[in-house]
Amino acid sequence: DGFPASRLFNQGYSYTYDDVIFLPHYIDFPTDSVQLSTKLSRNLNLSIPCVASPMDTVTESSMAVAMAALGGIAIVHSNNSASDQASIVRSAKSHRIPFVSDLIFKSPSDSISSIDDFGSSPCILITESGTRKSKLLGAITKSDWQVLNDKETRVSVYMAKSPVSAPSDYDFEQVAAYLAAKNLEFVPLVNEEDGEVVDVVTAAEVERIREFPKMGMPSVGPDGKFMVGVAIGTRELDKERLEHLVKAGANVVVLDSSQGNSIYQIEMIKYVKKTYPELDVIGGNVVTMYQAHNLIQAGVDGLRVGMGSGSICTTQEVCAVGRGQATAVYKVSSVAERSGVPVIADGGISNSGHIVKGLVLGASTVMMGSFLAGSNEAPGAYEYQGGCRIKKYRGMGSLEAMTKGSDARYLGDTAKLKIAQGVVGAVADKGSVLKFVPYAMQAVKQGFQDLGASSLQSAHELLRSGVLRLEVRTGAAQVEGGVHGLVSYEKKSF
Ligand code: XMP
Repeated sequence: DGFPASRLFNQGYSYTYDDVIFLPHYIDFPTDSVQLSTKLSRNLNLSIPCVASPMDTVTESSMAVAMAALGGIAIVHSNNSASDQASIVRSAKSHRIPFVSDLIFKSPSDSISSIDDFGSSPCILITESGTRKSKLLGAITKSDWQVLNDKETRVSVYMAKSPVSAPSDYDFEQVAAYLAAKNLEFVPLVNEEDGEVVDVVTAAEVERIREFPKMGMPSVGPDGKFMVGVAIGTRELDKERLEHLVKAGANVVVLDSSQGNSIYQIEMIKYVKKTYPELDVIGGNVVTMYQAHNLIQAGVDGLRVGMGSGSICTTQEVCAVGRGQATAVYKVSSVAERSGVPVIADGGISNSGHIVKGLVLGASTVMMGSFLAGSNEAPGAYEYQGGCRIKKYRGMGSLEAMTKGSDARYLGDTAKLKIAQGVVGAVADKGSVLKFVPYAMQAVKQGFQDLGASSLQSAHELLRSGVLRLEVRTGAAQVEGGVHGLVSYEKKSF
């Protein structure tokens, strides 16, 4: 019944995730016994197979902290100066595990309109200097701020003075008990000696942390801090950048290129391996077995797969080069697996079914841009468009991003004419990744259960041995597989 992957992917077609469908197999275990723990690269383990893309509208400090807290990882983008990128890494690493809230400070004389982004924080903290380095005077909560119309008024008029706080030496259980006893939504933890805020802990966070054993433990590096990845290019200047990033504590480096099979990348892989033998290096992007083979020979510890499959990508249209993502992931994984090199399926993920497909077809993790953009943790402020709350999400090959430096990714930084390979867009407000990623992971577990695969390794074995079968979906089958025939419906899935 159906086709083994080896036959389906050898007929000369370039299949995307939506083109293919798995046939169900046999279930002999409950959903919760599915294990999604995996490898990002040869030497880095993750509890969940999720990676945030190195894009300037996806990954800075808040995203890095949240993804690591979930047991995944985020790769900090390099569309900035080396020192800015290093300070993002440092900021993510300054968090006390397992707490994740951003600390945003204002002074009493700042105007309400100067507050435009709460990040992952439930409140703005008010101190005399407007920085962490002075005593906590008050706080403005996100819910209070959202209904304030008088944006030109000073912060001091609206702040709740002397908010309830707890001592910073409280451990997790003490903070949890304190929040519960006082029925608080959040509490700042304050250093009793100098009155400085060290953390803000929310009741939702306490609940999430209690779920760790079930959902997966946070990703922690050998330094005892949240694990953080960084992206760099393949130029001489990137060697200097990497030095800053390694000093800041980066745990893994991704060589960020849309076509990774180049002499520049191969030389950079060799340089990184020689200069920082302890640091895993991820190469890419690749979509063919030949490209993968070359980077594996050069010594990569992980491969990033995808060309033109991203939601904001126009590479396939502009350059006529790329591959359907399902075929690319399957083909590259079949080479990478033999060498023990984990594959990251990068781009084209717009629902949990796509995550299942990427992973079962051979990837060890999925890298996501649009899926995580528009969240509280993505950089940038929310705006309103047609009554909808949105955040900007743009391709790193868009003209707008390239004028900030990302043209090196497309090897176009020395060219006089800039050719866009991506677009600038926006995505709807999704809330916090800390909330929606665990739901997506639960859905992925259900997909694995339907396939009779209790782990990624087991899924890969079932696929390679031909036990798992697939078929191509016709256009009508794709319509049938989505919601159809209704006048309207509510699109909420959790
Ligand atoms: P998703 O589908 O998750 O894709 O939004 C994110 C991935 O897309 C790649 N990327 C680009 N590809 N032009 C491209 O052809 C671009 O401007 C661009 N920006 C990002 C990248 O691999 C990312 O992880």
